[in-house]
Amino acid sequence: MSNDLYAVVGNPISHSKSPRIHSLFASQTGEAVEYTAIQAPIDDFERTVRQFFERGGKGLNVTVPFKEQAWKLAARRTARAEKAGASNTLYFSEDGVLTADNTDGQGLVQDLTSNHGVTLNGARILILGAGGAVRGVIAPILARGPAALTIANRTVSKAEALVSLFADDAGNTEMAACGFEQPDQPFDVIINGTSASLQGDLPPVSANVIGENTVIYDMMYSLQTTTFNQWALDHGASRAYDGLGMLVEQAAESFRVWRGIAPETSPVIDELRND
Ligand code: ATR
Repeated sequence: MSNDLYAVVGNPISHSKSPRIHSLFASQTGEAVEYTAIQAPIDDFERTVRQFFERGGKGLNVTVPFKEQAWKLAARRTARAEKAGASNTLYFSEDGVLTADNTDGQGLVQDLTSNHGVTLNGARILILGAGGAVRGVIAPILARGPAALTIANRTVSKAEALVSLFADDAGNTEMAACGFEQPDQPFDVIINGTSASLQGDLPPVSANVIGENTVIYDMMYSLQTTTFNQWALDHGASRAYDGLGMLVEQAAESFRVWRGIAPETSPVIDELRND
């Protein structure tokens, strides 16, 4: 029997770690899965998706810059994808409907709580950034019941828009939006969701947000310490994690959605860290 076919679609895609992660999941679980990387033309994402499923493909991961297009293309969305406004996981449901899911937020929360032992319930959390990546993780963070969630962004109106969008999910969490310069007290958890480091920049936030027990999380991953994490460590943070665990955890959640089996993630994270 031939393997079931999965892929990640993006542009560019050659550096994606997803094929490696999913092939490690497949060998670990014994699932008959083949997983490739597809570079879609920037203006032809939809045709790439259609061709993949016409060829019998079972599921797609979607990455930059197509996550919003994947969300729009799908005829059905899971609740977590609906709120995220973007999709990283596509598949046909049993009743034949192209369905969009989003496993990014679950990936972040799982990495923070299970892999790093960080308690989000009751925590005061600062998120830096208000773009697509941040929008995708807010609902799963709120579901853990933090005491406060402050979203700081260069463009304050985008942070304010996210606070309004997620007001219904806030429960007892106190939500606030502001610019980078405003927060001036230590937070329990600080998550960098900006793409500033791609331009060699740092979000210009005060070092006063870092206390001796503050946990730092950069949603980007890097073989070296990320620029943001280095800054935080230089300013007194004791723990700073990058997004490699989130990457593996979101992949594991996609694998579970597609195959009904949750792979073990720590051996895969260790293996990638040693690559
Ligand atoms: P992504 O999908 O990675 O979230 P995005 O939607 O373009 O990409 O969002 C990028 C985020 O990084 C935004 O919060 C952006 O701030 P603005 O909303 O003000 O544009 C932030 N960002 C990008 N470059 C930055 C920089 N040099 N300094 C600070 N913030 C930056």
